[in-house]
Amino acid sequence: MADDPTVATYRIEDGIAWVSFNRPDKRNCMSPNLNRRMGEILDEIEFRDDFSVLVLKGEGSAWSAGMDLKEYFRETEAQGLGATRKAQRESYGWWRRLRWYQKPTIAMVNGWCFGGGYGPLYACDLAIAADEAQFALSEINWGILPGGGATKVVVDLMPLRDAMYHAMTGELIGGQKAAEWRLVNESVPLARLEARVTELAKVLQGKNPVALKATKDAIRRVKEMTYDNAEDYLVRAQEAANSFDNEGRKEGIKQFIDDKTYKPGLGAYDKSKQVDA
Ligand code: COA
Repeated sequence: MADDPTVATYRIEDGIAWVSFNRPDKRNCMSPNLNRRMGEILDEIEFRDDFSVLVLKGEGSAWSAGMDLKEYFRETEAQGLGATRKAQRESYGWWRRLRWYQKPTIAMVNGWCFGGGYGPLYACDLAIAADEAQFALSEINWGILPGGGATKVVVDLMPLRDAMYHAMTGELIGGQKAAEWRLVNESVPLARLEARVTELAKVLQGKNPVALKATKDAIRRVKEMTYDNAEDYLVRAQEAANSFDNEGRKEGIKQFIDDKTYKPGLGAYDKSKQVDA
Protein backbone atom coordinates (compact mmCIF):
# COMPACT_ATOMS: atom_id res chain seq x y z
CA MET A 1 0.00 0.00 0.00
CA ALA A 2 1.16 3.51 -0.80
CA ASP A 3 1.95 5.54 2.38
CA ASP A 4 0.32 8.64 0.90
CA PRO A 5 -2.51 7.85 -1.54
CA THR A 6 -2.88 11.50 -2.62
CA VAL A 7 0.30 11.55 -4.75
CA ALA A 8 -1.68 10.06 -7.63
CA THR A 9 -5.43 10.47 -8.02
CA TYR A 10 -8.23 9.74 -10.45
CA ARG A 11 -11.76 10.78 -11.31
CA ILE A 12 -14.10 9.09 -13.73
CA GLU A 13 -16.40 11.29 -15.77
CA ASP A 14 -18.35 10.67 -19.00
CA GLY A 15 -16.59 7.37 -19.60
CA ILE A 16 -13.07 8.81 -19.23
CA ALA A 17 -10.73 8.02 -16.33
CA TRP A 18 -8.59 11.09 -15.67
CA VAL A 19 -5.56 9.76 -13.78
CA SER A 20 -3.26 12.43 -12.37
CA PHE A 21 0.30 12.73 -11.21
CA ASN A 22 -0.50 14.75 -8.10
CA ARG A 23 2.64 16.18 -6.54
CA PRO A 24 2.45 19.61 -8.17
CA ASP A 25 4.77 21.19 -5.55
CA LYS A 26 7.41 18.64 -6.60
CA ARG A 27 6.59 19.02 -10.29
CA ASN A 28 5.02 15.53 -10.20
CA CYS A 29 8.39 13.78 -10.02
CA MET A 30 8.02 10.05 -9.41
CA SER A 31 8.85 8.89 -5.88
CA PRO A 32 8.56 5.21 -4.87
CA ASN A 33 5.33 6.16 -3.14
CA LEU A 34 3.89 7.72 -6.30
CA ASN A 35 4.89 4.70 -8.38
CA ARG A 36 3.25 2.35 -5.89
CA ARG A 37 0.05 4.42 -5.87
CA MET A 38 -0.09 4.53 -9.67
CA GLY A 39 0.21 0.74 -9.73
CA GLU A 40 -2.65 0.48 -7.23
CA ILE A 41 -4.88 2.84 -9.23
CA LEU A 42 -4.30 0.97 -12.50
CA ASP A 43 -5.21 -2.28 -10.73
CA GLU A 44 -8.27 -0.81 -9.01
CA ILE A 45 -9.95 0.64 -12.08
CA GLU A 46 -8.82 -1.40 -15.12
CA PHE A 47 -11.97 -3.51 -15.56
CA ARG A 48 -14.57 -1.02 -14.32
CA ASP A 49 -17.27 -0.63 -16.91
CA ASP A 50 -17.94 3.07 -16.26
CA PHE A 51 -15.00 4.23 -18.37
CA SER A 52 -13.50 3.19 -21.69
CA VAL A 53 -10.52 5.55 -22.14
CA LEU A 54 -7.80 6.45 -19.63
CA VAL A 55 -6.08 9.86 -19.75
CA LEU A 56 -2.82 10.39 -17.83
CA LYS A 57 -2.32 14.03 -16.85
CA GLY A 58 -0.29 16.13 -14.45
CA GLU A 59 -1.59 18.54 -11.80
CA GLY A 60 -0.03 22.01 -11.79
CA SER A 61 2.73 23.17 -14.12
CA ALA A 62 4.26 19.75 -14.80
CA TRP A 63 3.26 16.52 -16.46
CA SER A 64 6.14 14.77 -14.67
CA ALA A 65 9.65 16.01 -13.88
CA GLY A 66 10.87 12.41 -14.14
CA MET A 67 12.23 10.30 -11.32
CA ASP A 68 12.48 11.87 -7.87
CA LEU A 69 16.20 12.51 -7.50
CA LYS A 70 15.93 12.53 -3.71
CA GLU A 71 13.41 9.79 -2.88
CA TYR A 72 13.82 7.47 -5.88
CA PHE A 73 17.59 7.74 -6.31
CA ARG A 74 19.44 9.08 -3.27
CA GLU A 75 17.31 7.74 -0.42
CA THR A 76 16.63 4.39 -2.09
CA GLU A 77 20.27 3.81 -2.97
CA ALA A 78 21.17 4.57 0.64
CA GLN A 79 19.05 1.57 1.67
CA GLY A 80 21.00 -0.84 -0.53
CA LEU A 81 20.54 -2.88 -3.68
CA GLY A 82 17.32 -4.57 -2.55
CA ALA A 83 15.58 -1.22 -2.12
CA THR A 84 16.87 0.01 -5.49
CA ARG A 85 15.56 -3.08 -7.28
CA LYS A 86 12.21 -2.78 -5.51
CA ALA A 87 11.87 0.87 -6.56
CA GLN A 88 12.72 -0.09 -10.15
CA ARG A 89 10.17 -2.93 -10.13
CA GLU A 90 7.46 -0.59 -8.88
CA SER A 91 8.11 2.13 -11.45
CA TYR A 92 8.80 -0.10 -14.45
CA GLY A 93 5.88 -2.25 -13.30
CA TRP A 94 3.16 0.38 -13.64
CA TRP A 95 4.57 1.60 -16.94
CA ARG A 96 4.45 -1.99 -18.25
CA ARG A 97 0.87 -2.37 -16.96
CA LEU A 98 0.00 0.81 -18.84
CA ARG A 99 1.67 -0.35 -22.09
CA TRP A 100 -0.62 -3.38 -22.13
CA TYR A 101 -3.65 -1.79 -20.48
CA GLN A 102 -7.10 -3.13 -21.28
CA LYS A 103 -8.44 0.29 -22.22
CA PRO A 104 -6.94 2.75 -24.70
CA THR A 105 -4.75 5.38 -23.04
CA ILE A 106 -3.83 8.98 -23.87
CA ALA A 107 -0.98 11.00 -22.31
CA MET A 108 -2.14 14.60 -21.90
CA VAL A 109 1.19 16.39 -21.52
CA ASN A 110 0.34 19.72 -19.97
CA GLY A 111 3.83 20.83 -18.82
CA TRP A 112 7.32 19.62 -17.89
CA CYS A 113 8.20 16.12 -19.06
CA PHE A 114 11.68 14.89 -18.18
CA GLY A 115 13.75 11.72 -18.23
CA GLY A 116 11.90 8.99 -16.37
CA GLY A 117 8.64 10.63 -17.49
CA TYR A 118 9.32 9.19 -20.92
CA GLY A 119 8.43 5.74 -19.51
CA PRO A 120 4.75 6.51 -18.88
CA LEU A 121 4.69 8.79 -21.92
CA TYR A 122 5.65 5.87 -24.16
CA ALA A 123 3.35 3.53 -22.25
CA CYS A 124 0.31 5.56 -23.28
CA ASP A 125 -1.04 4.56 -26.69
CA LEU A 126 -1.46 8.15 -27.85
CA ALA A 127 0.01 11.43 -26.63
CA ILE A 128 -1.19 15.00 -27.07
CA ALA A 129 0.98 17.82 -25.74
CA ALA A 130 0.47 21.49 -25.05
CA ASP A 131 2.63 23.77 -27.19
CA GLU A 132 3.78 25.18 -23.84
CA ALA A 133 4.97 21.76 -22.53
CA GLN A 134 8.72 21.26 -22.28
CA PHE A 135 10.48 17.95 -22.87
CA ALA A 136 14.08 16.92 -22.22
CA LEU A 137 16.25 13.94 -21.52
CA SER A 138 17.95 15.86 -18.73
CA GLU A 139 19.96 12.88 -17.46
CA ILE A 140 23.07 14.05 -19.29
CA ASN A 141 22.81 17.32 -17.34
CA TRP A 142 23.20 15.58 -14.01
CA GLY A 143 25.64 12.94 -15.17
CA ILE A 144 23.85 9.69 -15.95
CA LEU A 145 22.68 7.97 -19.11
CA PRO A 146 18.93 8.02 -19.78
CA GLY A 147 18.00 4.76 -18.07
CA GLY A 148 14.67 3.36 -16.96
CA GLY A 149 13.66 2.81 -20.54
CA ALA A 150 14.12 6.44 -21.63
CA THR A 151 16.84 5.63 -24.18
CA LYS A 152 14.71 2.88 -25.66
CA VAL A 153 11.73 5.24 -25.82
CA VAL A 154 13.50 7.86 -27.92
CA VAL A 155 15.09 5.28 -30.21
CA ASP A 156 11.69 3.64 -30.74
CA LEU A 157 9.85 6.89 -31.37
CA MET A 158 12.35 9.28 -32.95
CA PRO A 159 14.58 9.26 -35.98
CA LEU A 160 18.11 8.25 -34.88
CA ARG A 161 19.77 11.65 -35.39
CA ASP A 162 17.08 13.39 -33.34
CA ALA A 163 17.25 10.75 -30.60
CA MET A 164 21.03 11.13 -30.43
CA TYR A 165 20.85 14.93 -30.32
CA HIS A 166 18.08 14.87 -27.72
CA ALA A 167 19.92 12.46 -25.41
CA MET A 168 23.40 13.99 -25.79
CA THR A 169 22.48 17.66 -25.40
CA GLY A 170 19.69 17.48 -22.83
CA GLU A 171 18.19 20.53 -24.56
CA LEU A 172 14.55 21.41 -23.93
CA ILE A 173 12.06 21.13 -26.76
CA GLY A 174 8.49 22.46 -26.78
CA GLY A 175 5.31 20.61 -27.68
CA GLN A 176 5.48 21.48 -31.37
CA LYS A 177 9.02 20.14 -31.73
CA ALA A 178 8.05 17.05 -29.70
CA ALA A 179 5.30 16.42 -32.25
CA GLU A 180 7.71 16.99 -35.15
CA TRP A 181 10.14 14.48 -33.57
CA ARG A 182 7.20 12.06 -32.98
CA LEU A 183 7.46 11.95 -29.18
CA VAL A 184 3.77 12.89 -29.22
CA ASN A 185 1.03 12.69 -31.86
CA GLU A 186 0.30 16.39 -31.89
CA SER A 187 0.58 19.59 -29.94
CA VAL A 188 -2.08 22.23 -29.33
CA PRO A 189 -2.21 25.43 -27.26
CA LEU A 190 -2.56 24.64 -23.55
CA ALA A 191 -5.96 26.35 -23.49
CA ARG A 192 -7.27 23.77 -25.97
CA LEU A 193 -5.46 20.71 -24.60
CA GLU A 194 -8.22 19.18 -22.49
CA ALA A 195 -10.84 19.79 -25.19
CA ARG A 196 -8.67 18.12 -27.84
CA VAL A 197 -7.95 15.13 -25.60
CA THR A 198 -11.64 14.79 -24.78
CA GLU A 199 -12.47 14.89 -28.49
CA LEU A 200 -9.92 12.15 -29.19
CA ALA A 201 -11.26 10.07 -26.28
CA LYS A 202 -14.76 10.36 -27.77
CA VAL A 203 -13.47 9.04 -31.11
CA LEU A 204 -12.02 6.00 -29.32
CA GLN A 205 -15.24 5.51 -27.38
CA GLY A 206 -17.06 5.07 -30.69
CA LYS A 207 -14.93 2.06 -31.67
CA ASN A 208 -15.30 -1.59 -30.79
CA PRO A 209 -13.37 -2.05 -27.49
CA VAL A 210 -12.24 -5.61 -28.25
CA ALA A 211 -10.83 -4.49 -31.59
CA LEU A 212 -9.11 -1.52 -29.92
CA LYS A 213 -7.31 -3.71 -27.36
CA ALA A 214 -6.27 -6.21 -30.05
CA THR A 215 -5.06 -3.37 -32.30
CA LYS A 216 -3.01 -1.49 -29.72
CA ASP A 217 -1.31 -4.70 -28.57
CA ALA A 218 -0.65 -5.75 -32.17
CA ILE A 219 1.01 -2.43 -33.01
CA ARG A 220 3.49 -2.86 -30.15
CA ARG A 221 4.05 -6.59 -30.77
CA VAL A 222 4.61 -6.59 -34.52
CA LYS A 223 7.12 -3.75 -34.36
CA GLU A 224 9.86 -6.26 -33.48
CA MET A 225 8.69 -9.16 -35.67
CA THR A 226 9.63 -10.26 -39.14
CA TYR A 227 6.86 -9.86 -41.72
CA ASP A 228 6.07 -13.59 -41.67
CA ASN A 229 5.94 -13.75 -37.89
CA ALA A 230 3.72 -10.67 -37.81
CA GLU A 231 1.38 -12.14 -40.41
CA ASP A 232 1.02 -15.30 -38.33
CA TYR A 233 0.59 -13.37 -35.05
CA LEU A 234 -2.11 -11.18 -36.60
CA VAL A 235 -4.12 -14.15 -37.88
CA ARG A 236 -4.07 -15.63 -34.40
CA ALA A 237 -4.72 -12.30 -32.65
CA GLN A 238 -7.75 -11.70 -34.88
CA GLU A 239 -9.10 -15.18 -34.18
CA ALA A 240 -8.56 -14.70 -30.45
CA ALA A 241 -10.35 -11.32 -30.60
CA ASN A 242 -13.25 -12.98 -32.43
CA SER A 243 -13.67 -15.36 -29.54
CA PHE A 244 -14.28 -12.31 -27.29
CA ASP A 245 -16.49 -10.48 -29.74
CA ASN A 246 -17.55 -12.05 -33.02
CA GLU A 247 -20.90 -10.22 -33.07
CA GLY A 248 -19.35 -6.77 -33.38
CA ARG A 249 -17.47 -7.76 -36.50
CA LYS A 250 -20.60 -9.33 -38.02
CA GLU A 251 -22.67 -6.26 -37.13
CA GLY A 252 -20.05 -3.99 -38.71
CA ILE A 253 -20.26 -5.98 -41.96
CA LYS A 254 -24.08 -6.11 -41.84
CA GLN A 255 -24.57 -2.37 -41.35
CA PHE A 256 -22.36 -1.72 -44.38
CA ILE A 257 -23.33 -4.51 -46.80
CA ASP A 258 -27.01 -5.12 -45.91
CA ASP A 259 -28.34 -2.03 -44.10
CA LYS A 260 -26.13 0.46 -45.95
CA THR A 261 -26.24 2.73 -42.88
CA TYR A 262 -22.53 3.65 -42.76
CA LYS A 263 -19.27 3.26 -44.67
CA PRO A 264 -16.31 1.76 -42.74
CA GLY A 265 -13.97 3.99 -44.72
CA LEU A 266 -15.71 7.04 -43.26
CA GLY A 267 -16.50 6.12 -39.64
CA ALA A 268 -17.41 3.44 -37.10
CA TYR A 269 -20.55 1.28 -37.15
CA ASP A 270 -23.32 1.93 -34.62
CA LYS A 271 -22.39 -0.24 -31.63
CA SER A 272 -25.76 0.35 -29.95
CA LYS A 273 -27.45 -1.86 -32.57
CA GLN A 274 -25.15 -4.79 -31.81
CA VAL A 275 -26.96 -7.81 -30.41
CA ASP A 276 -24.53 -9.97 -28.46
CA ALA A 277 -24.88 -13.70 -28.95
N1 COA B 1 13.42 15.09 -8.25
C1 COA B 1 13.31 15.60 -7.00
N2 COA B 1 12.76 16.80 -6.74
C2 COA B 1 12.30 17.50 -7.78
C3 COA B 1 12.39 17.03 -9.10
C4 COA B 1 12.98 15.77 -9.32
N3 COA B 1 13.07 15.23 -10.53
N4 COA B 1 11.86 17.97 -9.92
C5 COA B 1 11.43 18.97 -9.13
N5 COA B 1 11.71 18.68 -7.83
C6 COA B 1 11.39 19.50 -6.66
C7 COA B 1 12.42 20.61 -6.42
O1 COA B 1 13.54 20.12 -5.74
C8 COA B 1 11.60 21.59 -5.62
O2 COA B 1 11.53 21.12 -4.29
P1 COA B 1 11.49 22.16 -3.03
O3 COA B 1 10.27 23.00 -3.24
O4 COA B 1 11.42 21.28 -1.83
O5 COA B 1 12.76 22.95 -3.15
C9 COA B 1 10.22 21.46 -6.22
O6 COA B 1 10.19 20.19 -6.85
C10 COA B 1 9.91 22.50 -7.26
O7 COA B 1 10.94 22.49 -8.21
P2 COA B 1 11.60 23.81 -8.82
O8 COA B 1 12.91 23.41 -9.40
O9 COA B 1 11.64 24.90 -7.78
O10 COA B 1 10.51 24.19 -9.92
P3 COA B 1 10.68 25.00 -11.28
O11 COA B 1 9.28 25.14 -11.81
O12 COA B 1 11.50 26.23 -11.08
O13 COA B 1 11.53 24.04 -12.25
C11 COA B 1 12.00 21.90 -13.29
C12 COA B 1 10.93 22.88 -12.73
C13 COA B 1 11.22 20.66 -13.66
C14 COA B 1 12.68 22.55 -14.53
C15 COA B 1 13.08 21.61 -12.23
O14 COA B 1 12.46 21.28 -11.01
C16 COA B 1 13.98 20.48 -12.62
O15 COA B 1 14.94 20.68 -13.35
N6 COA B 1 13.73 19.23 -12.11
C17 COA B 1 14.52 18.08 -12.43
C18 COA B 1 14.15 17.52 -13.78
C19 COA B 1 14.97 16.31 -14.14
O16 COA B 1 16.12 16.42 -14.49
N7 COA B 1 14.36 15.15 -14.08
C20 COA B 1 14.98 13.94 -14.54
C21 COA B 1 14.91 12.92 -13.55
S1 COA B 1 15.15 11.30 -14.34
